[in-house]
Amino acid sequence: MRLKRTNLILGLCLITWASVLYFAFLTHLSSNKSETNGNVDRQIMILEQGISEQFKSNNDMIHDARRFLERKKSQEASSHTKQFQDVKLPILVFACNRVSVSKCLDRLIQYRPDPDKFPIIVSQDCNHQETTDTIKRYGSQVSLIQQPDQSDIQVPPKEKKFKGYFKIARHYGWALNQMFFNFNFSTVIIVEGLDFMKKKIDKNSTRAFVDDLEVAPDFFEYFLGTYPILMRDQSLWCISAWNDNGKEGLVDQERPDLLYRTDFFPGLGWMLTKALWLELYTKWPRAYWDDWIRDPLQRKGRACEKRDSCGHQTLCPVMAASGMFFEKHLKYIKLNEKFVPFTKMNLSYLVKDVYDKDFIRDVYQSVIVSYQELKDGKIAHEGPVRIVYRTKDEYKLITKKLGLMDDFKSGVPRTAYRGIVTFHYNGRTVHLAPNLNWKGYDLTWS
Ligand SMILES: *[C@@H]1O[C@H](CO)[C@@H](O)[C@H](O)[C@H]1NC(C)=O
Ligand SMILES: *[C@@H]1O[C@H](CO)[C@@H](O)[C@H](O)[C@H]1NC(C)=O
Ligand SMILES: *[C@@H]1O[C@H](CO)[C@@H](O)[C@H](O)[C@H]1NC(C)=O
Repeated sequence: MRLKRTNLILGLCLITWASVLYFAFLTHLSSNKSETNGNVDRQIMILEQGISEQFKSNNDMIHDARRFLERKKSQEASSHTKQFQDVKLPILVFACNRVSVSKCLDRLIQYRPDPDKFPIIVSQDCNHQETTDTIKRYGSQVSLIQQPDQSDIQVPPKEKKFKGYFKIARHYGWALNQMFFNFNFSTVIIVEGLDFMKKKIDKNSTRAFVDDLEVAPDFFEYFLGTYPILMRDQSLWCISAWNDNGKEGLVDQERPDLLYRTDFFPGLGWMLTKALWLELYTKWPRAYWDDWIRDPLQRKGRACEKRDSCGHQTLCPVMAASGMFFEKHLKYIKLNEKFVPFTKMNLSYLVKDVYDKDFIRDVYQSVIVSYQELKDGKIAHEGPVRIVYRTKDEYKLITKKLGLMDDFKSGVPRTAYRGIVTFHYNGRTVHLAPNLNWKGYDLTWS
């Protein structure tokens, strides 16, 4: 593209130069009619010589310019691939006492483009022999590490039924220490192929009834493609493959490539750096780590980057779960089947400065409608719309009516960015947004 333009400019220069010479020659002739023919012949010869020399030098110039641009282009291309060349992104899969972890491992191995670049490490708690055997059957395709601390955990009496959360937090902390300090990895992708998830009782958590997680074909491509953004943007602290509002009908089916920033830590399938772990590991909590990590003390205003939805999601629950929550939400979350070439895309739009400017402008330029108008399909114009919420109750009401997740953690509505929850409804982008003069999250909203 740029090469063609340069050629065009050089070509134009050449034509201009030739024209100037030609006109100079004509002027010369007309103003010197008195001169003898021999004199003119000589002059013409000199001019001809000049023109042909000029042609030659112009050709050389074009040739040089072309070579320069080609060299530059190949340098750019190789620095682009280099960006991904030396990157190692290990996958940490959590397991406990269910052999169904194999479903997750099968998919990971099936889609993994390069075992050296993406080593799979399964961390097993619980000492469950059958599960250990299942994992060992994969041979050198995966590495198995086992949580040595199987001691009983002292839990306050009224939290007895939440003991599972204590075990999870202990296992998580141990496994991440292994990844960063023993294996010395600089980045880790966590996949909760979790079996003990089922024991979770918190009804209002996505995690409550997730059995095992499966990955989509572009799982590795997604994390590799977004890795440079995570490294570059200090205001990001995780890349996530999960969208709590990833139900069919709430996502843009045509755009599996859509990525967003979110202030709400999604968890489940996510990537973090050693720098973040160095910050967290000394104060890692005994239980409820995912709520703990969402606290402003840990989050420090940082955001995660996530895919639009599970409809185009790289990671989704197997439909083996049950319960009210599952019936209402998870059942409808679908796995992305399209492959998006994230490493070949320009994802700079996700960097805070660019994103905040463009995203906020788009949101607040969109037309305001009521949730009822949206529900009834009574919106005449095309394009994105905005529904305004002012209070917590208003937010709860609207999300319930539209079938969105309606909860908050540390004042952040699930999936929100700067208070804005973006989803799709009947093929239209909708922003559920506070007023433009929004002052930050209210910790009392829960
Ligand atoms: C035309 O020729 C005369 C004498 O041969 C010369 O003095 C004059 O400078 C020439 N004019 C131009 C425009 O070159
Ligand atoms: C761990 O990795 C870092 C680079 O990420 C390197 O500087 C350091 O030497 C490594 N340490 C060990 C013990 O291999
Ligand atoms: C990539 O996107 C950013 C932000 O949208 C833009 O400023 C930049 O020019 C783009 N880079 C290329 C090579 O297209």
